[in-house]
Amino acid sequence: MKRTLIILSALAFLCACTAGQKQTGVRVVEDFNFDWKFTLGDSPEFEYTPAELAAYEAEQDAAWAVQRQALIDQQKKQMEQRRRAMGTAGRRAQANNPFAMQMTIREPERPRNANPSHFTESATAQWAAPEFNDASWRPLHLPHDWAIEGVFSQDAPSGTGSGALPGGIGWYRKHFKTPSADCVFVEFDGVFMNSTVYVNGKPVGTRPYGYSSFSYNITDYLNPAGEDNVIAVRCDNADQPNSRWYAGCGIYRNVRLVSVANQHVAYSGTFVTTPEITAEAGKVNIETTIENCADKVSAVVTHTVIDNKGKKVASVSDDVVLNAGKNVANTSLSVKSPALWSIESPNLYTVKTEISVNGTTVDDYNTVFGFRTIEWDPMKGVYLNGKSIKMLGVCLHHDMGCIGSAVHYRALEREIGTLKEMGCNAIRTSHNPPTPELLEICDKMGLLVMDEAFDMWRKRKTTFDYSRFFDEWHVADLQDFVRRDRNHPSIIMWSIANEIGEQGDSVDDNLQNLSLAEANLLLNFVDHTNPDGPFENNPNVLLTRHMAQLVKDVDPTRFVSAGCNGVGPTNNLFRSGALDAYGFNYHPQGYDQCLEYFPGKRMFGSETASAISSRGEYMMPSSSKEKHPSRVFGEDPNPTHQCSGYDSWSVPWGNLHEEAWIPIRDRDFIAGTFIWTGFDYLGEPTPYGWPSRSSYFGIVDLAGFPKDVYWMYQSEWTDKTVLHLFPHWNWNEGDKVDVWAYYNNADEVELFLNGKSLGKKSKTSDVLHAEWLEVPYEPGKIEVVSYKDGRVVAKDSRQTAGEPVSVRLTPDRKTISADGYDLCYVTVELVDKNGNAIPDNGTMLHFEVSGNGELFGVDNGNAADSLSLKGNDKAFFNGKALAVIRSIKDNPGSAKLTVTSDFGKSELVVKCK
Ligand code: GAL
Repeated sequence: MKRTLIILSALAFLCACTAGQKQTGVRVVEDFNFDWKFTLGDSPEFEYTPAELAAYEAEQDAAWAVQRQALIDQQKKQMEQRRRAMGTAGRRAQANNPFAMQMTIREPERPRNANPSHFTESATAQWAAPEFNDASWRPLHLPHDWAIEGVFSQDAPSGTGSGALPGGIGWYRKHFKTPSADCVFVEFDGVFMNSTVYVNGKPVGTRPYGYSSFSYNITDYLNPAGEDNVIAVRCDNADQPNSRWYAGCGIYRNVRLVSVANQHVAYSGTFVTTPEITAEAGKVNIETTIENCADKVSAVVTHTVIDNKGKKVASVSDDVVLNAGKNVANTSLSVKSPALWSIESPNLYTVKTEISVNGTTVDDYNTVFGFRTIEWDPMKGVYLNGKSIKMLGVCLHHDMGCIGSAVHYRALEREIGTLKEMGCNAIRTSHNPPTPELLEICDKMGLLVMDEAFDMWRKRKTTFDYSRFFDEWHVADLQDFVRRDRNHPSIIMWSIANEIGEQGDSVDDNLQNLSLAEANLLLNFVDHTNPDGPFENNPNVLLTRHMAQLVKDVDPTRFVSAGCNGVGPTNNLFRSGALDAYGFNYHPQGYDQCLEYFPGKRMFGSETASAISSRGEYMMPSSSKEKHPSRVFGEDPNPTHQCSGYDSWSVPWGNLHEEAWIPIRDRDFIAGTFIWTGFDYLGEPTPYGWPSRSSYFGIVDLAGFPKDVYWMYQSEWTDKTVLHLFPHWNWNEGDKVDVWAYYNNADEVELFLNGKSLGKKSKTSDVLHAEWLEVPYEPGKIEVVSYKDGRVVAKDSRQTAGEPVSVRLTPDRKTISADGYDLCYVTVELVDKNGNAIPDNGTMLHFEVSGNGELFGVDNGNAADSLSLKGNDKAFFNGKALAVIRSIKDNPGSAKLTVTSDFGKSELVVKCK
């Protein structure tokens, strides 16, 4: 089929292309991650001399004295405002709330700039100059996160809230040859943060938000084809704190060099939608933005749809006229009997877009998409391809434990794979744009995504957070994000915000005066049902409408939502009328009331639970439900800095896992849940301070080892037979131990201690586990058996382990690719002579990798362990440790891991192909 197409718009656009260069044909996308040099610190002209530094500091001290007093006065004012905003009913509720925040004046936290600098974006920098000698800089390859390589420190300016790891300024440099192409772009998936990119000494662009992806046209900055160039990137993460969690530092996501002809598909330049799908045919609409960096020309644009077996299933060709600048072309085609994308069968298709000029193909560009329909009935929930589904989701931060935030496909695949196995079918990218690979994996594995943009708008949560860039950058950051991600079938909704200060008006700008835990308490216990609240058209209502419209302008096909703490009608985001779906963070007791507040609206639990636990820690009695941090801040709930591994601890604004899931399970109008969180993450170690530096919220610990509650979800969310018994069976004579089991597909479960029955138990609709409390410990075997109609369905047992004899190493894969990216995750356990794992030993281990691989990280899941995650030493934590081996590019062979401890030496060989 060939048609003449009308170009809908030819936007005035100055293209920076090298005129007259030879057109070379189709696009070349190069992996631009290798052969970089890196150093910490700043180019000399930006650094202060000691005298300047002293003057700077004196100035800062004086400014701080004034600011400190202003902050204290402001707190006094806020307290009064808060009291008034609550109204009488709110004040009464507050008085009766055992977890209410105490209203006291706190010493304001002094913001710190770890590395003051005279930097201005327009300045030339010695370190960016092509002739600069970077021989002393460290060679490395990307993605790279320098913060994870630092040491955990109580004095880190970021605080424990963002992981107690360093910030600072870092520089990267790389030499490369000019490709012979009309136009050359460099694409960054994300640089944390405040990046400035230079090519051959000249500044090309700057991007403050560390989660945004961007592309620069560097054609005009390059030397002639074949000659050497230098790209330099300055990353400035010195102003701390700027995040409520660990963000990482540096070029932590992938970089590509893209060479194209003058006529090419723009960056994020396609929008593929499937407006009509029947069993017989699927209609595909394709909007393509084509840049023409030369004069007006006639061209043919061909789109070919390819199925997941590589077979061409449809195509369309259109004649177009490409004006100089940006052109937008629309077309459509039809695919016969489309295979739908679903959670069970995530079928994907690719549109291959080719541009040809004078019979020569000058560009080709692939867009992956899927055929699926999403409907969301306010009372009945979500329908995927007409089938009712509950969103069984988790929230995830972007770090990947001991490898920090440096994106590695295998680390993401392991994380999402572990969650999918649990029965999880949805991910919320809390609270920022994710790396594109995460979405690719969700597309491939069949998980739905709530793709989130921001944790704050104008009102800041930490001193130097994104609020300082919001006014200037929010349009570009939000729209570029939606444009980048809008073809993924996995994404079903956008989230424009998480718990932003703009939700209410009683919450003042200065949330940074509060500890993270206090800010949470405040946001969660403000009375959002108070009718004396602000009026309809207040600036925050208008701002919400503006934000939602920015999204709709780029993607009108998906729901726009936000995660909000106030589940009441005075919440400005709800009042705006601009949200398609109302996300409630916590407060399940308010769900039913929301039917009255928001009739006919779509609702879901955008953030739930915030239960806290440590893998393998069992604090008795398991029936004592505890809320931490409790009323008095600074009180450590447990000197070990661990939380109980029974589902018995949560934060005051949250709920235990069972308590959070049941109200959602039982309400069709609450379309799903996103549990806080799937995996533990670096930072936010609520309810503790130093030496804790990572979270306790995960269903899976930071090392990727599931906590026991993982099997509660698996038993509720999957059909596969589950029976999981805990705790371990290595206690002291005389101990009384609470024994729990998660199970499904059975009527009852029976516990046996050394063959003797301790009785049958069943779960109920309100209690999702069986429990036998205060079982008198005796060494041997504890076993649970599940029965259906009297027949045995499954068995699970724990055996008392004897004396430790050796260290066992179990790799997740025996062969990895020798590409410099692939990882092998090795589980390390201490075992007795029969191979039983010892659950309670803290022996120190020393790790070395030799041969064709490198030791890339070590962990044990202990949130209060301050030994580096990039070092060579780590102790067992509750029976487990982890080593991560990374392959080396073009270096096939084998990598040998050697683990040395008091129990000798253990070795493991992994093939790198
Ligand atoms: C929520 C917040 C999350 C995290 C969580 C901890 O209110 O959205 O980012 O801080 O609390 O419970």
